[in-house]
Amino acid sequence: MFNNNNKTILLTGCAGFIGSNFVPYFLKKYENYNLVNLDVLTYAGDLENLKEVENHPRYKFIKGNICNRELVEFIFNGYDIQGVIHFAAESHVDNSIKNPGVFIETNVNGTFTLLDIAYRYWMEKPFKYRDRYLAANNDPLSTEASLPRFHHISTDEVYGTLSEDSNDLFTEKTPYSPNSPYSASKASSDMVVRSYVETYGMNCVVTNCSNNYGPKQHDEKLIPTIIRNALQGNPIPIYGDGKNIRDWLYVLDHCKGIDLVYHTGKTGETYNIGGRNEKTNLQIVNRICEILDEKVPRSSCHSELGSGSSYKELITFVADRAGHDRRYAIDATKLENELGWKADETFDTGIMKTVEWYLEKYK
Ligand SMILES: NC(=O)c1ccc[n+]([C@@H]2O[C@H](COP(=O)([O-])OP(=O)(O)OC[C@H]3O[C@@H](n4cnc5c(N)ncnc54)[C@H](O)[C@@H]3O)[C@@H](O)[C@H]2O)c1
Repeated sequence: MFNNNNKTILLTGCAGFIGSNFVPYFLKKYENYNLVNLDVLTYAGDLENLKEVENHPRYKFIKGNICNRELVEFIFNGYDIQGVIHFAAESHVDNSIKNPGVFIETNVNGTFTLLDIAYRYWMEKPFKYRDRYLAANNDPLSTEASLPRFHHISTDEVYGTLSEDSNDLFTEKTPYSPNSPYSASKASSDMVVRSYVETYGMNCVVTNCSNNYGPKQHDEKLIPTIIRNALQGNPIPIYGDGKNIRDWLYVLDHCKGIDLVYHTGKTGETYNIGGRNEKTNLQIVNRICEILDEKVPRSSCHSELGSGSSYKELITFVADRAGHDRRYAIDATKLENELGWKADETFDTGIMKTVEWYLEKYK
């Protein structure tokens, strides 16, 4: 229990990459929230990511599964949860190809469980929040933003793949066309959220973000894989021809976008978040190798591999991922124009910070 009268928000999955960047940012920025982080600690969750806040008086970690209805109800009642920001998911496309079942379980059933409990806890009946939440707002002009809100974190992968025409971008109106079990499970969860808005009048928002990069990402993902293999002098695996395009966003810019939508987004709306940083995997790996060539020249860490040679020599093309989407790119105009969001990092500044963080981690 917390020792103050702040509102308590339930965060899910914040021992993972994005959530563990979000928690310290949010605790520092706002003094009027308590945060409960519910995370089952799959292979992707690591409490080391949250070391800096573990003893914070307004933060509490609970180990548990979002699919566990009894536990989630217990948390809502025990902490009088007045907002949810839902990060928890199985998130790695490759794993969803090998083992899709757990993606449906966590991403679809888990999201449904959270939504359904939030609905029953916050609302008396469809379109009617409980009086205590209306009264607590105490501002006659207050709108949905100050009612208990459910913010669902989703991905641009729900939109499928784009052509290579640079004018072709994902907007909030792009029809869903998910291609992997991961993106299908996220698309399904987005639809369940939508149904709680339409059917029950619940105060939900959804954000669909492009590929994130930055500190604390799991070793299995592209950028940590590149840096780790390079430093170990191992082949750096790149799928197919390396020309798949992703729109890369620095993780803290995503966190700031979530903060903005959670506080000022319109109920029932979806907002795309993306950095206008389209890069092929080859451009990513080349840029990282150039930074490493400068910061830790191969001669200094792998003298046996020959001095003066570039890490680029380690790039190795491997068989492509099944159903590999060719291109993702986000049009973030709605978030920029309606809510005033703008990414603070360019790819050049963000990737430099990222490489420096992993150099510390892998040294
Ligand atoms: N990483 C990206 O580039 C990216 C881009 C857009 C959207 N997203 C979305 O953002 C969210 C967070 O992504 P991430 O990269 O931080 O993921 P991640 O895999 O790093 O972390 C997921 C976290 O959820 C926890 N978790 C998994 N199943 C759970 C369950 N059943 N109950 C409770 N906790 C559970 C894990 O232990 C882990 O801590 C996801 O919903 C993902 O779909 C990610």
